[in-house]
Amino acid sequence: MEYKIALLPGDGIGPEVIAQTTMVLDKIGMKYGDSFAYTELLAGGCAIDAVGEPLPQVTIDGCLASDSVLLGAVGGPKWDTLPGEQRPERALLGLRGALGLFANIRPAILHQALKEACPLREDIIGDGIDVCVVRELTGGMYFGDRGRRQGDMGEEAYDTECYSEVEVERIARTAFEIARKRAKKVTSVDKANVLESSRLWRSVVIRVAKEYPDVVLDHMYVDNASMQLIRDPHQFDVMVTTNMFGDILSDEASMITGSIGMLPSASLGEGTLGMYEPIHGSAPDIAGQDRANPIATILSAAMMLRFSFGQEQAADSIEKAVTQVLAQGYRTGDIMSSGMKLVGTKEMGQLILAAI
Ligand code: IPM
Ligand code: MG
Repeated sequence: MEYKIALLPGDGIGPEVIAQTTMVLDKIGMKYGDSFAYTELLAGGCAIDAVGEPLPQVTIDGCLASDSVLLGAVGGPKWDTLPGEQRPERALLGLRGALGLFANIRPAILHQALKEACPLREDIIGDGIDVCVVRELTGGMYFGDRGRRQGDMGEEAYDTECYSEVEVERIARTAFEIARKRAKKVTSVDKANVLESSRLWRSVVIRVAKEYPDVVLDHMYVDNASMQLIRDPHQFDVMVTTNMFGDILSDEASMITGSIGMLPSASLGEGTLGMYEPIHGSAPDIAGQDRANPIATILSAAMMLRFSFGQEQAADSIEKAVTQVLAQGYRTGDIMSSGMKLVGTKEMGQLILAAI
């Protein structure tokens, strides 16, 4: 098969980690008889510099015409002073909306070899950590009504949290389907003791759960969930939550896996077109220095093979190669610990390539 992939390297370390990932994909293609045709497109700060807007229409069209989208990272200090609608981050939000990618899957797995990099105590880590955050991605406060107005106490600014039954239903289904392939437990995270949107969220999740009697459902308030995640991560299998809470909890989950540089993500909609990206940002402080960890992006490509192309074996093959290289003691700076071998972005890419 030939697959068309829209490549959005973006800003900062984005182009560096994407370069390693396409090499890995090409090797996988050779191994399994597939080929990947890349179309490079502008998104984020680089698009602002080149054409004056973060998400040009040609980029949206190019993504829609592809089988899948692979994104590096967007943003950087250079564009931080721009008004909200013109910021690089708009590219991400615009793509999620335009491609209808309502489900964001963020698996947080602590590799055995990386126990040293995990900030939790060894007795809490136990035999490893494996939590999957399922974040709603096209609703809630990120896409709600917002604005500024004059109030009695000066200027006011507001963002609105709003969820519809359909939005909650479809993300809940995604979470239950994923749980079925894992430990069959879903924890729905909300703030139903305070927020009306959370009360609707909870009642819809309970309704959808009836279709999945084989999956255990529980509910947790977001403040408690953020505490439980570091107190005892083993109690979680799949966590399903809103756009805003999922943004926060997935960063927290990433930290307990050793480094945010390790976490891949998949953003999916109704069809097979998905957008795959590392959950880390553009890391401008280390950009262009061959110091970035390419693993999160390489693992995102594995998720692409699995979720968009149905290539389970190829995905496994990438994940095994990553595990092997880590077991051999190779580390980028973010996951370095004493006695290990420090390597740069390119060398890490080469090692994973060789292990495939
Ligand atoms: C993420 C990021 C984005 C988000 C930003 C860059 C807009 O933090 O993907 O988690 O908040 O969704
Ligand atoms: Mg985030």
